[in-house]
Amino acid sequence: MPDVIATYFFIPDQGTSPEQAAQAISEEETTGTWTDLTTRTAYVQRLDGSVESVDARGDGYVTKIHFPAEIFEPGNVPQYLSVVAGNLFGLSSLAAVRLLDIDLPAGLVPFKGPKFGIKGVRKLIGTTRRPHVGTIIKPKVGLNPEDTAAVAYEAAMGGVDFIKDDETLTSQAFCPLDERVPAVMARLDEATSETGRTVLYAVNVSDRADRIVERAEYAIDLGANTLMVDVITCGFSALQALAEAPGIRVPIHVHRTMHAAMTRNPHHGVAMRPIARIVRMLGGDQLHTGTVSGKMEHNLEELLGDNRALTEASFGMNAAFPVASGGLHPGKVHAELSTLGTDVVLQAGGGIHGHPDGTAAGARAMRQAVDAFLAGVGSEEYAQDHPELARALSKWGSR
Ligand code: 3PG
Ligand code: 3PG
Ligand code: MG
Repeated sequence: MPDVIATYFFIPDQGTSPEQAAQAISEEETTGTWTDLTTRTAYVQRLDGSVESVDARGDGYVTKIHFPAEIFEPGNVPQYLSVVAGNLFGLSSLAAVRLLDIDLPAGLVPFKGPKFGIKGVRKLIGTTRRPHVGTIIKPKVGLNPEDTAAVAYEAAMGGVDFIKDDETLTSQAFCPLDERVPAVMARLDEATSETGRTVLYAVNVSDRADRIVERAEYAIDLGANTLMVDVITCGFSALQALAEAPGIRVPIHVHRTMHAAMTRNPHHGVAMRPIARIVRMLGGDQLHTGTVSGKMEHNLEELLGDNRALTEASFGMNAAFPVASGGLHPGKVHAELSTLGTDVVLQAGGGIHGHPDGTAAGARAMRQAVDAFLAGVGSEEYAQDHPELARALSKWGSR
Protein backbone atom coordinates (compact mmCIF):
# COMPACT_ATOMS: atom_id res chain seq x y z
CA MET A 1 0.00 0.00 0.00
CA PRO A 2 1.36 3.45 -0.88
CA ASP A 3 2.80 5.57 1.91
CA VAL A 4 0.87 8.24 3.74
CA ILE A 5 2.36 11.59 2.68
CA ALA A 6 2.12 14.52 5.07
CA THR A 7 3.09 18.05 4.09
CA TYR A 8 4.42 20.44 6.72
CA PHE A 9 5.52 24.05 6.83
CA PHE A 10 8.29 24.50 9.40
CA ILE A 11 10.93 26.86 10.74
CA PRO A 12 14.01 25.02 12.04
CA ASP A 13 15.27 25.89 15.51
CA GLN A 14 18.50 27.90 15.82
CA GLY A 15 21.44 25.70 14.85
CA THR A 16 19.30 23.04 13.17
CA SER A 17 19.45 22.67 9.39
CA PRO A 18 16.15 22.34 7.48
CA GLU A 19 17.14 18.79 6.49
CA GLN A 20 17.82 17.85 10.13
CA ALA A 21 14.49 19.34 11.20
CA ALA A 22 12.54 17.44 8.54
CA GLN A 23 14.40 14.25 9.43
CA ALA A 24 13.49 14.80 13.09
CA ILE A 25 9.78 14.79 12.18
CA SER A 26 10.20 11.67 10.07
CA GLU A 27 12.02 9.79 12.84
CA GLU A 28 9.86 10.94 15.76
CA GLU A 29 6.66 9.87 14.00
CA THR A 30 7.92 6.47 12.84
CA THR A 31 10.64 4.37 14.48
CA GLY A 32 13.13 6.88 15.84
CA THR A 33 13.69 8.96 18.93
CA TRP A 34 16.36 11.43 20.10
CA THR A 35 19.10 8.80 20.35
CA ASP A 36 20.05 5.49 18.75
CA LEU A 37 18.47 2.35 20.29
CA THR A 38 19.95 -0.98 21.35
CA THR A 39 16.49 -2.52 20.88
CA ARG A 40 16.14 -1.65 17.21
CA THR A 41 15.75 -4.84 15.12
CA ALA A 42 16.55 -5.11 11.41
CA TYR A 43 12.95 -5.86 10.43
CA VAL A 44 11.65 -2.64 11.99
CA GLN A 45 13.49 -0.68 9.30
CA ARG A 46 10.56 -1.20 6.86
CA LEU A 47 8.58 1.25 9.02
CA ASP A 48 11.16 4.05 8.81
CA GLY A 49 9.81 7.32 7.50
CA SER A 50 11.49 9.23 4.69
CA VAL A 51 11.79 12.86 3.73
CA GLU A 52 10.75 13.32 0.11
CA SER A 53 11.58 17.03 -0.20
CA VAL A 54 12.51 20.17 1.68
CA ASP A 55 11.88 23.46 -0.13
CA ALA A 56 12.27 27.02 1.10
CA ARG A 57 8.94 28.84 1.33
CA GLY A 58 8.37 32.30 2.83
CA ASP A 59 10.16 32.57 6.13
CA GLY A 60 10.46 28.80 6.52
CA TYR A 61 10.41 25.56 4.57
CA VAL A 62 7.87 23.04 3.26
CA THR A 63 8.60 19.33 3.50
CA LYS A 64 6.80 16.24 2.28
CA ILE A 65 7.32 13.24 4.54
CA HIS A 66 6.44 9.63 3.72
CA PHE A 67 5.06 7.43 6.48
CA PRO A 68 4.75 3.70 5.61
CA ALA A 69 1.05 2.76 5.51
CA GLU A 70 1.69 -0.21 7.79
CA ILE A 71 2.19 2.21 10.70
CA PHE A 72 -1.47 3.19 10.49
CA GLU A 73 -4.30 1.05 11.87
CA PRO A 74 -6.93 1.11 9.10
CA GLY A 75 -9.99 3.11 10.18
CA ASN A 76 -8.48 4.42 13.41
CA VAL A 77 -8.38 8.18 12.76
CA PRO A 78 -7.24 9.10 16.28
CA GLN A 79 -4.17 6.94 15.64
CA TYR A 80 -3.64 8.48 12.20
CA LEU A 81 -3.51 11.91 13.87
CA SER A 82 -1.17 10.71 16.60
CA VAL A 83 1.28 10.00 13.79
CA VAL A 84 0.91 12.94 11.37
CA ALA A 85 -0.11 15.48 14.04
CA GLY A 86 1.49 14.10 17.16
CA ASN A 87 4.68 14.73 19.14
CA LEU A 88 6.31 16.55 16.23
CA PHE A 89 4.71 19.86 17.27
CA GLY A 90 6.81 19.84 20.42
CA LEU A 91 10.18 18.91 18.91
CA SER A 92 12.84 21.37 20.08
CA SER A 93 14.60 21.13 16.69
CA LEU A 94 11.61 22.98 15.23
CA ALA A 95 10.89 26.59 16.15
CA ALA A 96 7.47 26.22 14.48
CA VAL A 97 5.69 23.57 12.42
CA ARG A 98 2.28 23.40 10.73
CA LEU A 99 0.59 20.37 9.20
CA LEU A 100 -0.62 21.63 5.81
CA ASP A 101 -2.14 18.50 4.29
CA ILE A 102 -2.30 14.71 4.41
CA ASP A 103 -2.54 12.34 1.47
CA LEU A 104 -3.94 8.92 2.46
CA PRO A 105 -3.93 5.77 0.30
CA ALA A 106 -7.36 4.22 -0.40
CA GLY A 107 -6.57 1.31 1.90
CA LEU A 108 -6.57 3.71 4.86
CA VAL A 109 -9.91 5.29 3.93
CA PRO A 110 -12.43 2.56 4.83
CA PHE A 111 -15.05 5.27 5.33
CA LYS A 112 -18.26 5.99 3.43
CA GLY A 113 -18.07 9.78 3.72
CA PRO A 114 -21.14 12.03 3.85
CA LYS A 115 -24.50 10.19 3.69
CA PHE A 116 -26.15 13.30 2.21
CA GLY A 117 -23.55 15.91 1.32
CA ILE A 118 -24.39 18.59 -1.23
CA LYS A 119 -26.59 16.38 -3.42
CA GLY A 120 -28.54 14.89 -0.54
CA VAL A 121 -29.14 18.17 1.28
CA ARG A 122 -30.18 19.85 -1.98
CA LYS A 123 -32.66 17.03 -2.53
CA LEU A 124 -34.15 17.57 0.93
CA ILE A 125 -34.60 21.30 0.25
CA GLY A 126 -35.51 20.99 -3.43
CA THR A 127 -32.78 23.03 -5.07
CA THR A 128 -30.39 22.18 -7.87
CA ARG A 129 -28.05 25.16 -8.07
CA ARG A 130 -29.03 27.98 -5.72
CA PRO A 131 -26.77 28.58 -2.70
CA HIS A 132 -28.52 27.69 0.54
CA VAL A 133 -29.25 30.36 3.14
CA GLY A 134 -28.90 29.43 6.77
CA THR A 135 -29.23 31.15 10.08
CA ILE A 136 -28.11 30.63 13.64
CA ILE A 137 -30.55 31.25 16.46
CA LYS A 138 -29.36 34.42 18.21
CA PRO A 139 -28.79 35.45 20.95
CA LYS A 140 -26.54 32.40 20.91
CA VAL A 141 -27.66 31.36 24.41
CA GLY A 142 -30.43 32.45 26.74
CA LEU A 143 -33.71 32.17 24.84
CA ASN A 144 -36.26 29.71 26.26
CA PRO A 145 -37.59 26.93 24.00
CA GLU A 146 -40.73 28.82 23.00
CA ASP A 147 -38.84 31.97 22.00
CA THR A 148 -36.22 29.88 20.21
CA ALA A 149 -39.02 28.27 18.21
CA ALA A 150 -40.53 31.67 17.43
CA VAL A 151 -37.20 32.88 15.99
CA ALA A 152 -36.94 29.69 13.94
CA TYR A 153 -40.49 30.19 12.61
CA GLU A 154 -39.75 33.78 11.56
CA ALA A 155 -36.54 32.71 9.82
CA ALA A 156 -38.39 29.92 7.99
CA MET A 157 -41.16 32.27 6.91
CA GLY A 158 -38.50 34.65 5.60
CA GLY A 159 -37.07 31.93 3.38
CA VAL A 160 -34.06 30.31 5.05
CA ASP A 161 -33.31 26.72 4.09
CA PHE A 162 -31.44 25.90 7.26
CA ILE A 163 -31.43 26.87 10.93
CA LYS A 164 -28.84 25.81 13.50
CA ASP A 165 -28.27 26.10 17.20
CA ASP A 166 -25.24 28.18 18.03
CA GLU A 167 -22.11 26.26 18.95
CA THR A 168 -22.44 26.91 22.69
CA LEU A 169 -26.10 25.89 22.98
CA THR A 170 -26.63 22.23 23.87
CA SER A 171 -29.08 21.29 26.64
CA GLN A 172 -28.70 23.92 29.36
CA ALA A 173 -31.39 24.43 32.00
CA PHE A 174 -32.69 27.57 30.25
CA CYS A 175 -33.35 25.65 27.04
CA PRO A 176 -33.30 21.87 27.48
CA LEU A 177 -32.94 19.92 24.23
CA ASP A 178 -36.04 17.82 24.97
CA GLU A 179 -38.17 20.98 25.08
CA ARG A 180 -36.37 22.92 22.34
CA VAL A 181 -36.53 20.28 19.61
CA PRO A 182 -40.29 19.63 19.74
CA ALA A 183 -40.99 23.37 20.07
CA VAL A 184 -38.85 24.31 17.07
CA MET A 185 -40.05 21.42 14.90
CA ALA A 186 -43.70 22.27 15.62
CA ARG A 187 -43.15 25.86 14.46
CA LEU A 188 -41.21 24.68 11.39
CA ASP A 189 -44.07 22.32 10.51
CA GLU A 190 -46.36 25.35 10.73
CA ALA A 191 -44.07 27.29 8.39
CA THR A 192 -43.94 24.37 5.95
CA SER A 193 -47.72 24.13 5.86
CA GLU A 194 -47.86 27.85 5.06
CA THR A 195 -45.01 27.96 2.53
CA GLY A 196 -44.66 24.42 1.21
CA ARG A 197 -40.91 24.67 1.84
CA THR A 198 -38.82 22.27 3.91
CA VAL A 199 -36.43 23.84 6.41
CA LEU A 200 -33.66 21.90 8.17
CA TYR A 201 -33.04 22.53 11.86
CA ALA A 202 -29.65 21.32 13.13
CA VAL A 203 -29.88 20.69 16.86
CA ASN A 204 -26.52 20.83 18.58
CA VAL A 205 -26.03 17.38 20.14
CA SER A 206 -22.43 18.04 21.24
CA ASP A 207 -21.79 16.00 24.36
CA ARG A 208 -19.42 13.50 26.03
CA ALA A 209 -18.22 10.71 23.77
CA ASP A 210 -20.19 8.06 25.67
CA ARG A 211 -23.47 9.98 25.44
CA ILE A 212 -23.49 11.80 22.11
CA VAL A 213 -25.03 9.01 19.98
CA GLU A 214 -27.79 8.41 22.52
CA ARG A 215 -28.44 12.17 22.69
CA ALA A 216 -28.59 12.36 18.89
CA GLU A 217 -30.99 9.42 18.61
CA TYR A 218 -33.16 11.02 21.30
CA ALA A 219 -33.18 14.31 19.36
CA ILE A 220 -34.27 12.45 16.23
CA ASP A 221 -37.02 10.68 18.20
CA LEU A 222 -38.15 14.18 19.24
CA GLY A 223 -38.39 15.14 15.57
CA ALA A 224 -34.98 16.62 14.72
CA ASN A 225 -34.34 16.52 10.95
CA THR A 226 -30.64 17.50 11.12
CA LEU A 227 -27.89 17.20 13.75
CA MET A 228 -25.04 19.55 14.59
CA VAL A 229 -21.78 18.61 16.29
CA ASP A 230 -18.85 20.76 17.44
CA VAL A 231 -16.25 18.44 15.97
CA ILE A 232 -13.06 19.86 17.54
CA THR A 233 -14.39 20.03 21.08
CA CYS A 234 -16.26 16.70 20.82
CA GLY A 235 -13.58 14.96 18.77
CA PHE A 236 -13.48 13.43 15.31
CA SER A 237 -14.55 10.09 16.77
CA ALA A 238 -17.80 11.67 17.97
CA LEU A 239 -18.59 12.65 14.37
CA GLN A 240 -17.69 9.14 13.18
CA ALA A 241 -19.91 7.58 15.86
CA LEU A 242 -22.85 9.79 14.78
CA ALA A 243 -22.30 9.14 11.08
CA GLU A 244 -21.99 5.38 11.53
CA ALA A 245 -24.87 4.94 14.02
CA PRO A 246 -27.51 2.87 12.21
CA GLY A 247 -30.33 4.88 13.79
CA ILE A 248 -29.06 8.20 12.46
CA ARG A 249 -30.34 8.94 8.96
CA VAL A 250 -30.31 12.75 8.96
CA PRO A 251 -27.67 15.21 7.72
CA ILE A 252 -24.85 16.11 10.11
CA HIS A 253 -23.81 19.78 10.22
CA VAL A 254 -20.27 20.16 11.54
CA HIS A 255 -19.22 23.28 13.42
CA ARG A 256 -15.49 23.76 13.97
CA THR A 257 -15.32 26.01 17.05
CA MET A 258 -11.84 25.90 18.69
CA HIS A 259 -10.30 25.22 15.27
CA ALA A 260 -8.60 28.62 15.21
CA ALA A 261 -6.37 27.50 18.10
CA MET A 262 -4.74 25.26 15.48
CA THR A 263 -5.57 26.71 12.07
CA ARG A 264 -5.06 30.43 12.48
CA ASN A 265 -1.28 30.72 12.96
CA PRO A 266 0.34 30.42 9.51
CA HIS A 267 3.55 29.08 11.10
CA HIS A 268 2.37 26.61 13.73
CA GLY A 269 -0.54 24.22 14.21
CA VAL A 270 -2.85 22.27 11.91
CA ALA A 271 -4.28 23.89 8.78
CA MET A 272 -7.99 23.53 7.99
CA ARG A 273 -7.21 21.34 4.95
CA PRO A 274 -6.48 18.09 6.86
CA ILE A 275 -9.44 18.82 9.16
CA ALA A 276 -11.74 19.24 6.16
CA ARG A 277 -10.53 15.98 4.62
CA ILE A 278 -11.08 14.08 7.87
CA VAL A 279 -14.54 15.57 8.48
CA ARG A 280 -15.65 14.60 4.96
CA MET A 281 -14.24 11.07 5.31
CA LEU A 282 -15.96 10.57 8.65
CA GLY A 283 -19.36 11.62 7.35
CA GLY A 284 -19.82 15.36 7.89
CA ASP A 285 -22.51 16.55 5.44
CA GLN A 286 -21.81 20.27 5.96
CA LEU A 287 -18.65 21.90 7.39
CA HIS A 288 -17.81 25.48 8.34
CA THR A 289 -14.69 26.49 6.41
CA GLY A 290 -14.85 30.27 6.79
CA THR A 291 -15.85 33.30 4.77
CA VAL A 292 -14.30 35.58 2.21
CA SER A 293 -15.47 38.74 3.95
CA GLY A 294 -16.79 37.85 7.40
CA LYS A 295 -15.73 38.56 10.98
CA MET A 296 -13.12 35.83 11.35
CA GLU A 297 -9.66 36.19 9.87
CA HIS A 298 -9.23 34.24 6.64
CA ASN A 299 -6.68 33.29 3.98
CA LEU A 300 -8.50 33.19 0.65
CA GLU A 301 -6.18 30.75 -1.10
CA GLU A 302 -6.43 28.31 1.80
CA LEU A 303 -10.22 28.72 2.01
CA LEU A 304 -10.69 27.87 -1.67
CA GLY A 305 -8.44 24.84 -1.26
CA ASP A 306 -10.31 23.74 1.84
CA ASN A 307 -13.63 23.92 0.00
CA ARG A 308 -12.13 21.91 -2.87
CA ALA A 309 -11.08 19.28 -0.33
CA LEU A 310 -14.77 18.99 0.60
CA THR A 311 -16.13 18.90 -2.93
CA GLU A 312 -13.56 17.42 -5.35
CA ALA A 313 -13.73 13.77 -6.36
CA SER A 314 -12.27 11.75 -3.50
CA PHE A 315 -12.51 8.00 -2.81
CA GLY A 316 -16.00 7.94 -4.35
CA MET A 317 -17.39 9.96 -1.44
CA ASN A 318 -20.24 12.47 -1.67
CA ALA A 319 -19.16 16.09 -1.75
CA ALA A 320 -19.72 17.87 1.57
CA PHE A 321 -21.43 21.27 1.67
CA PRO A 322 -19.00 24.09 2.57
CA VAL A 323 -20.56 26.53 5.05
CA ALA A 324 -19.56 30.19 5.04
CA SER A 325 -20.51 31.73 8.35
CA GLY A 326 -19.38 34.41 10.76
CA GLY A 327 -20.16 38.10 10.33
CA LEU A 328 -22.11 37.74 7.08
CA HIS A 329 -25.07 39.92 6.12
CA PRO A 330 -26.96 40.57 2.83
CA GLY A 331 -24.38 43.19 1.77
CA LYS A 332 -21.64 40.55 1.82
CA VAL A 333 -23.46 37.89 -0.21
CA HIS A 334 -22.14 39.07 -3.57
CA ALA A 335 -18.51 38.96 -2.41
CA GLU A 336 -18.98 35.49 -0.94
CA LEU A 337 -20.71 33.95 -3.96
CA SER A 338 -18.48 35.53 -6.58
CA THR A 339 -15.50 33.92 -4.85
CA LEU A 340 -16.92 30.70 -3.40
CA GLY A 341 -19.40 29.81 -6.12
CA THR A 342 -22.96 28.63 -5.50
CA ASP A 343 -22.40 25.20 -3.95
CA VAL A 344 -22.24 26.75 -0.51
CA VAL A 345 -24.41 27.39 2.55
CA LEU A 346 -24.30 31.09 3.42
CA GLN A 347 -25.15 31.53 7.10
CA ALA A 348 -25.99 34.72 8.91
CA GLY A 349 -26.89 35.07 12.55
CA GLY A 350 -26.56 38.77 13.31
CA GLY A 351 -26.98 39.44 9.61
CA ILE A 352 -30.56 38.14 9.78
CA HIS A 353 -31.73 38.73 13.38
CA GLY A 354 -30.15 42.19 13.40
CA HIS A 355 -32.19 43.37 10.40
CA PRO A 356 -34.06 46.58 11.32
CA ASP A 357 -37.40 44.95 10.46
CA GLY A 358 -36.72 41.67 12.26
CA THR A 359 -35.80 38.08 11.47
CA ALA A 360 -38.23 37.33 8.62
CA ALA A 361 -37.16 40.53 6.83
CA GLY A 362 -33.51 39.61 7.42
CA ALA A 363 -34.03 36.17 5.89
CA ARG A 364 -35.86 37.73 2.96
CA ALA A 365 -32.98 40.20 2.48
CA MET A 366 -30.46 37.31 2.38
CA ARG A 367 -32.54 35.43 -0.21
CA GLN A 368 -32.94 38.62 -2.24
CA ALA A 369 -29.16 39.16 -2.19
CA VAL A 370 -28.68 35.58 -3.44
CA ASP A 371 -31.32 36.08 -6.15
CA ALA A 372 -29.60 39.29 -7.20
CA PHE A 373 -26.31 37.45 -7.60
CA LEU A 374 -27.93 34.61 -9.59
CA ALA A 375 -29.62 37.20 -11.82
CA GLY A 376 -26.27 38.92 -12.38
CA VAL A 377 -27.58 42.14 -10.82
CA GLY A 378 -25.71 44.21 -8.22
CA SER A 379 -27.27 44.17 -4.74
CA GLU A 380 -27.75 47.95 -4.68
CA GLU A 381 -29.64 47.89 -7.99
CA TYR A 382 -31.71 44.85 -6.97
CA ALA A 383 -32.53 46.60 -3.68
CA GLN A 384 -34.34 49.35 -5.53
CA ASP A 385 -37.43 47.13 -5.74
CA HIS A 386 -36.66 44.78 -2.85
CA PRO A 387 -37.24 46.76 0.36
CA GLU A 388 -35.91 44.16 2.82
CA LEU A 389 -32.57 44.11 0.98
CA ALA A 390 -32.56 47.91 0.79
CA ARG A 391 -33.03 48.17 4.57
CA ALA A 392 -30.21 45.68 5.19
CA LEU A 393 -27.81 47.53 2.89
CA SER A 394 -28.66 50.84 4.49
CA LYS A 395 -27.84 49.40 7.92
CA TRP A 396 -24.71 47.37 7.08
CA GLY A 397 -23.58 48.58 3.67
CA SER A 398 -22.79 46.41 0.69
CA ARG A 399 -19.28 45.10 1.17
C1 3PG B 1 -32.24 25.81 -8.33
O1 3PG B 1 -31.60 25.86 -9.39
O2 3PG B 1 -31.77 25.60 -7.24
C2 3PG B 1 -33.73 26.05 -8.44
O3 3PG B 1 -33.88 27.39 -8.91
C3 3PG B 1 -34.38 25.85 -7.09
O4 3PG B 1 -35.33 26.82 -6.86
P1 3PG B 1 -35.33 27.70 -5.50
O5 3PG B 1 -34.02 27.42 -4.90
O6 3PG B 1 -35.49 29.11 -5.92
O7 3PG B 1 -36.48 27.16 -4.67
C1 3PG C 1 -21.97 30.53 13.64
O1 3PG C 1 -22.07 29.71 14.57
O2 3PG C 1 -22.01 30.23 12.44
C2 3PG C 1 -21.72 31.98 14.01
O3 3PG C 1 -22.21 32.17 15.30
C3 3PG C 1 -22.32 32.95 13.03
O4 3PG C 1 -22.86 34.02 13.75
P1 3PG C 1 -22.86 35.50 13.08
O5 3PG C 1 -23.45 35.35 11.70
O6 3PG C 1 -23.72 36.34 13.98
O7 3PG C 1 -21.43 35.92 13.01
MG1 MG D 1 -21.74 30.54 16.33
